[in-house]
Amino acid sequence: MSATGQAKTLTPPDIATRKGKTPLVCLTAYTTPVARLVDPHCDVVLVGDSVGMVLHGLPSTLGVTLDMMVMHGQAVRRGLERALMVVDMPFGSYEEGPDQAFRSAARVMAETGCAAVKLEGGEAMAETIRFLAGRGIPVMAHVGLTPQAVNAFGGYRVQGRGEDGERIRRDALAVAEVGAFAVVLEKVPEPLARRITAELAIPTIGIGASPACDGQILVVDDMLGLFGDFRPKFVKRYAELGETASVAIGTYAQEVRERRFPAAEHVFGDAPESVKGGQAA
Ligand code: KIV
Repeated sequence: MSATGQAKTLTPPDIATRKGKTPLVCLTAYTTPVARLVDPHCDVVLVGDSVGMVLHGLPSTLGVTLDMMVMHGQAVRRGLERALMVVDMPFGSYEEGPDQAFRSAARVMAETGCAAVKLEGGEAMAETIRFLAGRGIPVMAHVGLTPQAVNAFGGYRVQGRGEDGERIRRDALAVAEVGAFAVVLEKVPEPLARRITAELAIPTIGIGASPACDGQILVVDDMLGLFGDFRPKFVKRYAELGETASVAIGTYAQEVRERRFPAAEHVFGDAPESVKGGQAA
């Protein structure tokens, strides 16, 4: 808490200094009500481009636009007080080079009020990350399985098994070297995540990358059981809200058909015909 009694909003340097300490708690959010729910519990709230699949029904994250990220970023901003808000740079908004990445990131920061952006890629993005970080744009990097490269990978497979681990290690070292304040490690084997976490001076945030990381992130709809299209091994379902919602909606439908809803307590008027004697007619 600050002197004013307001929760202090965490900054990218606050997150960077958590290296090797109590694990960082991170979740995605795309809307104001969910941002309000996760904020008291999280260090980082990511407005992920997973929004395209989770909320918009897209088959991958490739169709997500900068306008979508700005709109969801603005919604999440209204629900946060404490957590650091990071907004994903969508496919096509940064890969051409540092100038394009700066223009896109500056727009996202100015229009959403986020304090950092996330972008996918390791060595190939090092020059871009150095450019952004050197111009006041804190960058969270993302290596391992990078979903925007799903076509190049041929699916959402574990990355960095065996000798391929060296490629992911080089990616992680490269983004740390050029000034990323944290790096997401997605879907990599435990020994590799452990080695990278030990070697880097910045926090690693794992998703399907074992407890060896400095923090964990999940897609909030996955861990709440609201998104059933994908059930990856690394997701623990902490609730089954999809099933609960389905039962509630079914009950509503039945009560409407049987004229049991609305009941007396939901009806306006002194003595409405439909609720004489406290019962719906
Ligand atoms: O888009 C997203 O939600 C992400 C996280 C799962 C890391 O990139």
